[in-house]
Amino acid sequence: KTIGLLFGGRSAEHEVSKLSAANVLRALDPDRYDIVPIGIGRDGRWLLCDSGNGGGRGAKSLEIPEGAPQVALLPGGAGEMIVLGDESGPRTLRLDAVVPVLHGPNGEDGTIQGCLELANVPYVGSGVLGSAAGMDKDVAKRLLRDSGLPVVPFLTLTPRTGVDYRMAVQALGTPDLFVKPANMGSSVGVSRARSAQEFGDACERAFRYDSKVLVERSVAGAREIECSVLEDAAGEIKASPLGEIVPADSHGFYSYDAKYIDTDGALLRVPAELPAERARRIQELAVETFKVLACEGLARVDFFLDPKDEGSLFVNEVNTLPGFTAISMYPKLWEAGGLPQGELMEVLIGHAIA
Ligand code: DAL
Ligand code: MG
Repeated sequence: KTIGLLFGGRSAEHEVSKLSAANVLRALDPDRYDIVPIGIGRDGRWLLCDSGNGGGRGAKSLEIPEGAPQVALLPGGAGEMIVLGDESGPRTLRLDAVVPVLHGPNGEDGTIQGCLELANVPYVGSGVLGSAAGMDKDVAKRLLRDSGLPVVPFLTLTPRTGVDYRMAVQALGTPDLFVKPANMGSSVGVSRARSAQEFGDACERAFRYDSKVLVERSVAGAREIECSVLEDAAGEIKASPLGEIVPADSHGFYSYDAKYIDTDGALLRVPAELPAERARRIQELAVETFKVLACEGLARVDFFLDPKDEGSLFVNEVNTLPGFTAISMYPKLWEAGGLPQGELMEVLIGHAIA
């Protein structure tokens, strides 16, 4: 089978995607698959990175070489791509399935999924709706809240909404707030605000990434628990063992830097130390979240657990194309659940082509 590996992309998580893609490439069995890495540049062009099998295998990050030939998927085809820019003129290349290893807007949000639908090519992960609903934190939280799942109270701002710090504090009942772009990942553009000045700066930063911004009550001192969800070819949905993120004090929260820049920025504890009953409840909630948000194939569901109040458990967010880097939680949790990365890729591709 010929598998297209889409990576890079136009979002602020371009670099994270390159790390994830290198790790996914390593996990794909070269004896079973012809792998066609397709790098999406920051300008959005699709470039054929290596026409041979397994280019870049073993690298920490997949790169997009200068001058690589441009490719385009053909709508109405059967996974055919047209390869431009070769001296011999255009040619076609057929993909049997695509693994989108893209994070954030223009990749994780249903846009790429729509393009793959039009080209009739099976792909790993959620479809258009699940991707879009999961990417938009405002929409996702409304759907979860509507289904009776616990979410942290929030407000939604647009550039036209006149919410100031005092009003946000009043509405959310605490001076300790988080401000986030609605459509983004890896904590890009996220900051904590505990004063009017910080709130103004935080909104300004978040609006750089999106025209919709979320203000949430900070769950001070919350434990961050994550669960990987996987759907197999038969449609059975399973939750992995749980993991816990323990950010270093110097970072305060699980920021972009704590995730990828300062590798001591956070500790991943697998499995998370929790009473069995509570762990089971979180796993159930992870599967419910997956279903409510119309996810398919895979997702990582992130939770806040307030240690001061045993009753307080919140679904923080869902990631329909979670980080897949060598240090990422999604594959680590499945490894802990007895599914090494190679087998995990088999299940994901099996679900895509089922
Ligand atoms: N958005 C990043 C890649 C994650 O969820 O892991
Ligand atoms: Mg995310």
